[in-house]
Amino acid sequence: MRTQVGIVGAGPAGLMLAHLLHLQGIESVILETRGREYVEQRIRAGVLEQGTVDLLRDTGVGERMDRQGLVHEGIDLRFGGRSRRIDFNELTGKGVMVYGQHEVVKDLIAARLRDGGSILFDISETSVEGLESDRPTIRYRDARGEPAELVCDFIAGCDGFHGICRASIPDGVMSYYDRVYPFAWLGILAESKPVQEELIYANHERGFTLISLRSPTITRMYLQCDPEEDIAEWPDDRIWSEIAARLAGEDTPDLVPGPIISKGVTAMRSFVAEPMRFGTLFLAGDSAHIVPPTGAKGMNLAIADVRVLAGAFASFYRDGSRDGLDTYSDVCLNRIWKTQRFSWWMTSMLHRFEGTGPFEHRVQLAELDYVTSSRAASTTLAENYVGLPFGA
Ligand code: APR
Ligand code: PHB
Repeated sequence: MRTQVGIVGAGPAGLMLAHLLHLQGIESVILETRGREYVEQRIRAGVLEQGTVDLLRDTGVGERMDRQGLVHEGIDLRFGGRSRRIDFNELTGKGVMVYGQHEVVKDLIAARLRDGGSILFDISETSVEGLESDRPTIRYRDARGEPAELVCDFIAGCDGFHGICRASIPDGVMSYYDRVYPFAWLGILAESKPVQEELIYANHERGFTLISLRSPTITRMYLQCDPEEDIAEWPDDRIWSEIAARLAGEDTPDLVPGPIISKGVTAMRSFVAEPMRFGTLFLAGDSAHIVPPTGAKGMNLAIADVRVLAGAFASFYRDGSRDGLDTYSDVCLNRIWKTQRFSWWMTSMLHRFEGTGPFEHRVQLAELDYVTSSRAASTTLAENYVGLPFGA
């Protein structure tokens, strides 16, 4: 089989890339190890920056998001037992959309299939070769287990942090920047009326908690926990009472415990691989970088990468220009590092760090007080949260 751009991975990066390429008349094939149902059900984060919302809308895949997504114009930061609001709309004129990542994935798969696109699910043993040639090839076993190959002009490595694309780049080419945090998030989805419309990010001596939602009847919440946390030790009532303890104080949000329908522990890391290109292989999304989820940036960065990559492929196929391909990595990394900084900063300000004492906690409280009382500092948080401009 032959195609112009072979895409490894059907997460937000791979799917959005295929969609954008299709709109430019460029052919692609997506290869995905998991089944369609699995990728459509995989629960991940759910905050879309204004620029992501605009891109989905402008390219014809925003219809369900506009019906079901929840527009948010601010968040609450809660510390010292009180909530203070950051008003994104007033500070930046922009907002965000709460809409689950797996819903975006469903919409992109539906659009791809409607447009006659090719997504091969349930493949295995993916490998890439010829990355320094103009005929890079992806080898794999198809859903029946038969060996197959896809010869491409370019390969897009959209196969996430544990994928094979980044790992196929020869030693010595890449630089890696990595920080692993000494805590994780225990995330739950509950059939419970959200305590309020907007998100609450709470700093507490017992650890961070985040109250989010998916719909007027489904609450999404996270608790800072140990990376080795055994989920079996967290029966539902322990989760509810721990969240309540971390929210306690003035105007305590009124939790309404309900059935917990999913539980999972997410590790927290910051990671960047540079450059995001090797020959005819281009990395995009989690295959090239990971952010801790405190800034709600993972999916937005993935979409931002493929926006730049699709533009680079489009100018190559339109007029043979390689400029966009040559600048892809630098253009993306400039914004990625600023987003890394924001995600690291939010994480540092809001979590409890083992081994630190009351001094560090007081500094965090002072910072939160400053961020929520100075217009300049609130604007810094707001403009990063709603998404930095592209090319900034
Ligand atoms: N061959 C084919 N597909 C693969 C392979 C492989 N060897 N390895 C991994 N994959 C698939 C995974 O099954 C997954 O569906 O690649 C896809 C990568 O998708 P994501 O992990 O969602 O990554 P990305 O598209 O970059 O989106 C980033 O996902 O993890 C979240 O927080 C992150 O929100 C961010 C978003
Ligand atoms: C979520 O709703 O899943 C969510 C929201 C905000 C974050 C992370 C996750 O920062």
